Amino acid sequence: MPPRYPDKPVCSYLWDTTLGVHSEHAAVRLNFDLATVFGELTLDRDTSSTHSREGDELADWLRGNVERAFSPSRAGGLQPSSVGGSTPKTATASRGHEVAAPAKIIGTPYRFTYAAHFPKPALPLDNPLTEEGVALGRRLFNDPLLSKGEKQSCASCHQMDGGTVDAGKAFSLGVDGLPGKRNAMPLYNLAWKSEFFWDGRAKSLRQQALMPIQDELEMHETLPNVVAKLKSARAAAADAKAISYATSFTRAFGTPDITAERVGLALEQFLLTVTSFDSKFDRVMRGEAQFTTEEQRGFELFHTEHDPRRGQFGADCFHCHGGPLFQNVAFANNGLEREPKDLGRYLVTGRDGDKGKFSVPSLRNVELTAPYMHDGRHRSLEEAVFHYVRGVKRSETLDPNLAKHRPGGMHLPPPDLHALVAFLKTLTDESLRPAARSAALAPP
Ligand code: HEC
Ligand code: HEC
Repeated sequence: MPPRYPDKPVCSYLWDTTLGVHSEHAAVRLNFDLATVFGELTLDRDTSSTHSREGDELADWLRGNVERAFSPSRAGGLQPSSVGGSTPKTATASRGHEVAAPAKIIGTPYRFTYAAHFPKPALPLDNPLTEEGVALGRRLFNDPLLSKGEKQSCASCHQMDGGTVDAGKAFSLGVDGLPGKRNAMPLYNLAWKSEFFWDGRAKSLRQQALMPIQDELEMHETLPNVVAKLKSARAAAADAKAISYATSFTRAFGTPDITAERVGLALEQFLLTVTSFDSKFDRVMRGEAQFTTEEQRGFELFHTEHDPRRGQFGADCFHCHGGPLFQNVAFANNGLEREPKDLGRYLVTGRDGDKGKFSVPSLRNVELTAPYMHDGRHRSLEEAVFHYVRGVKRSETLDPNLAKHRPGGMHLPPPDLHALVAFLKTLTDESLRPAARSAALAPP
């Protein structure tokens, strides 16, 4: 899928006013959904023509969308609005505009829910989500049989059902005790991504999921071995409800065949269902909670341009980490190195302009995913944000949104740095906190 318009922020404007009728004070929240304006616009395909000339089709289309992008809602959390409403949406399978024959559904269709203020995800039509497929994927994700010597499962490095990452390690150790080359990534909201890994080398999750199994620094196993082990695995005798893999595969795919392809498809189904959209930030957007003064300051800095000529002194974060997913699904160089040791995206595309570029990580739950950056160089959130204040290093591929600042970065005063960190902590999904998880998993 070609990259789509990257930033999709939903903004709300609070219109504090006194209405004539009863002279009562009222606040009306006007939501503005940028995603509606740009819709399915594809930057590289559709954007060559517009200079708002008379009769410019694209400009007319955008103008029409702007009207639809505004929606009023009551402020103060009385009425959930259409944007940021509290009723999650349910997705049906679709991948962009493609009209492919959907695969026959075997089993119970899975109800995939997501926040009302998220864009529609592009679920694969040829691998429809089912309860049985997702359950098989979750089982495989947690099963050390997928690794050499049965020492490690996917969950060893991606803990808590894929929610967060290898607790505190910069580089996770594989089955042979050798460290990998990059920091493990958190696995939520992958349904909105189309290229995976820090350098985007995997084009689909079914393809991605088979790579760590065979990676010699990770699970270091062969696919034929995995298939053979799954075929002969006995259901744990102690667990009366446990079923054999042949039964699990039959429920998910209709026949008991265990193949590497099906392992990939089941893992893909499970990975697609891991979502996270309930944080203080989301509640504030729905009018159910309020930012503290410091969080509000951080929110504004995060979403404001740094343009001194216009009297704007924001922190420019939204360019890359904007929108409800807090990532723009793109690759960028945020100035970690003058001469990158790890060439990142360049290793996939071979283009000089991609040297040192990495997948922009979502900042949802960032409080829980230390250490930070592709190599885990920053141990705390303060340190990671301080990088943008003083640590930015110049190179040919440094992103223009960072290259425009003074040497070293945006030189924010310490209270602003702390405000940004306070705002980032509002992006934490409380249910993913280790304490909340172990309470939920503990027997009653
Ligand atoms: C030894 C630790 C380790 C194990 C085991 C492991 N992973 Fe990972 N995972 C990583 C690391 C490190 C990365 C980032 C690697 C890179 O970018 O080169 C990653 C990245 C990913 C991503 C990309 C996420 C994104 O946003 O692009 C997915 C998906 C993923 N792993 C799924 C899995 C699955 C499924 C398994 C089991 C089959 C698994 N991982 C096993 C360490 C591990
Ligand atoms: C030009 C795009 C861009 C801008 C602007 C930007 N970032 Fe980033 N950010 C990135 C990329 C790319 C990475 C990953 C870099 C890497 O690991 O090589 C990243 C990583 C991070 C991380 C670490 C996340 C993790 O899981 O490891 C944090 C925290 C962060 N950025 C916060 C911010 C804040 C706060 C701002 C505004 C002050 C900001 N970013 C501005 C592109 C950007």
